[in-house]
Amino acid sequence: MGDQIIRIGAVADIHYSRDKETRLKPLFEHAARSVDILLLGGDLTDYGMPEEVDSLVRDLKVAADIPIIAVLGNHDFESGREQEVMAILRAGGVRVLDGDTCEVRGIGIAGVKGFGGGFARGTLEPWGEAGVKRFVQEAVDEAMKLERALARITAPTRIALLHYAPIRDTVVGEPEEIFGFLGSGRLEEPLHRYGVTAVFHGHAHKGAPEGKTSGGIPVYNVALPVLRRIEAQGPPLRILELPVYESPTR
Ligand SMILES: [Fe+2]
Ligand SMILES: [Fe+2]
Repeated sequence: MGDQIIRIGAVADIHYSRDKETRLKPLFEHAARSVDILLLGGDLTDYGMPEEVDSLVRDLKVAADIPIIAVLGNHDFESGREQEVMAILRAGGVRVLDGDTCEVRGIGIAGVKGFGGGFARGTLEPWGEAGVKRFVQEAVDEAMKLERALARITAPTRIALLHYAPIRDTVVGEPEEIFGFLGSGRLEEPLHRYGVTAVFHGHAHKGAPEGKTSGGIPVYNVALPVLRRIEAQGPPLRILELPVYESPTR
């Protein structure tokens, strides 16, 4: 790879499972050859079981030469063993972000899972029953985590890695009745405040591949089924090339 361009590859919703053979090793080999950073946008497993993530970590070994950065998705929480899931990923060399950041060659990446709650006029407000307030609080907390992570990035370029969608555009294609469970517009404001360059998310398997925030930031839905639909001819990996602003080392 040249010095001036960094290539970011992203995919989400790979749903490693113990019931079916998941064969994404060729995709990870392709990533190792084609990109400088691999981002995994949550739902790495079907049920958040250690054996599922074990097989993922085994397959990811072929991409051990590039930084692999991940957030978890709702499926990875299903068994209540997300701490184990994260520990296995980290032991396998994956940087798992949950409201924190990492930097690679002048690119700062902030990662959070995000949450549902809807968009614009369809945003659920914290009013009425305690259960509704708890649900909304979860969305508010995730947006705060994103905000704090972005604030810590000192790199010239900021990228956000999420599981849930921050805008409505990229969930279009899913049944409208479930839009409120696919993402939260509360995640959008921090993206603008910190001048994020691009956003990757998953979760909306039937959503649209790309959209823009109201402030024009590109948002990519990299859920594996979405990428398979748009990249029928090639490997399902969204690749974004960005200029590198790091100071020269030689
Ligand atoms: Fe998923
Ligand atoms: Fe999901």
